[in-house]
Amino acid sequence: MTGLKKAGSNWVDGDRFFDRHAELNVLMERVQNGTHTLLTAQRRMGKTSLVRELLRRLEAEGSFETVFVDLEDVRTAADAVVEIGVESRHVHGAWDRIKAGFGNVLRTVEGRVDTLDIGEVRVKLRAGIDHGTWRQKGDDVCAALANNERPVVLALDELPILVNRMLKDHDHQIMSQGKQDVDELLSWLRKIGQEYREKICLILSGSIGLEPILHQAGLSAHANIFSPLDLKPWDEKTALGCLAALAETCGLDLPLAARQQMCRRLRCLVPHHVQRFFDSLDEDLRLDSRRQASLEDVERVYTSEMLGIRGQADLDHYESRLKLVLGRDGYRAALSLLTEAAVNDGVLPRAAIDRYTEQFRTWAVTDRPVPIGEVLRVLEHDGYLEPRGDGYRFVSGLLEDWWRARHGRHFIPVERRSGLQGA
Ligand SMILES: Nc1ncnc2c1ncn2[C@@H]1O[C@H](COP(=O)(O)OP(=O)(O)OP(=O)(O)O)[C@@H](O)[C@H]1O
Ligand SMILES: [Mg+2]
Repeated sequence: MTGLKKAGSNWVDGDRFFDRHAELNVLMERVQNGTHTLLTAQRRMGKTSLVRELLRRLEAEGSFETVFVDLEDVRTAADAVVEIGVESRHVHGAWDRIKAGFGNVLRTVEGRVDTLDIGEVRVKLRAGIDHGTWRQKGDDVCAALANNERPVVLALDELPILVNRMLKDHDHQIMSQGKQDVDELLSWLRKIGQEYREKICLILSGSIGLEPILHQAGLSAHANIFSPLDLKPWDEKTALGCLAALAETCGLDLPLAARQQMCRRLRCLVPHHVQRFFDSLDEDLRLDSRRQASLEDVERVYTSEMLGIRGQADLDHYESRLKLVLGRDGYRAALSLLTEAAVNDGVLPRAAIDRYTEQFRTWAVTDRPVPIGEVLRVLEHDGYLEPRGDGYRFVSGLLEDWWRARHGRHFIPVERRSGLQGA
């Protein structure tokens, strides 16, 4: 077993990246065939890491050039084109053409690409694009990329966050202008994907699902040119291997039984949770000057650390993404459904869903009934719940325990409530 460096709080590649051989092979093959991909997975499954590692390997192997664009902080289609332009500066055969496409704006930006002031380039590019011209400028940038000698893999991370932001107002209601703007952006992306099939390969990914958002807006057909790839949790063998490799690097004696107990606790082996658990255990034992982990240590750290303040900080991140997708009323509904399941041993029976469906009709803050089917669709897509019988159950033991610890204490299950007032 070779050692594996511990992950920080961000994405990993190289000597911090573990496994995912099958997915990397599939993506390598798709890139070679010019197949565009929509990478989907629950939160923290390692989407960004997988794409980063793929790009790293493609660069090392030399037959492709790669562009990684993070759209998390982007607000409009024009901003997105600016980011694609800025990140394309490393593609040698494209940058001069991109600069030329922006005419005078970039005339004063000289010098070697790796010494450029990126903030300055971004501001200048932004000044050269507006709502009326973003498509033309976007075409220019992509034509420049397509003209590069080697084909380019263009990865757009967090596109669903941008789409969600463009689509909805402060109350998380879909605006007709937003719908039109998203329609235009996705049509453009689709055109680029089709027109430059041999020269630009697109990989989309994001920490919220694109499909549920497009479904909310009735724009699902836009995802058609992308072949989905669903990134699954690790199986137990892989997670055990990752824990062993981390333990070796850190000089920790972590017996098989202890590693198995860690997997049992997590139930769903999301790489981030596996890493987080290891890190908490390793640190806890270091503070006690010990280098040997027992089953009791695993249990203690699970309760005190994973379910404690540090773990709860991770949960904040989950909740904020849910709010982003579902809006205020939808989030309240999700909160009730998940807590209902958490206090009921992780199971959400059909009878409870039916009771809530009745309630949600009446307590929407914004006067609109909460579409419970849509809330469940997002919860399933984001990996909180999976169908079981005619109801649902929590997928992850950790999320279930987190949710119970945070929201379950004063919660009264729906069937024990009198009347049908708010949850
Ligand atoms: N292949 C891997 N090998 C080792 N650790 C991994 C791997 N993939 C993910 N991780 C762990 O998961 C964490 C999150 O990874 P990453 O940011 O790539 O996930 P993500 O799915 O993009 O998350 P988000 O949903 O927030 O966008 C990393 O910091 C790392 O600890
Ligand atoms: Mg990510």
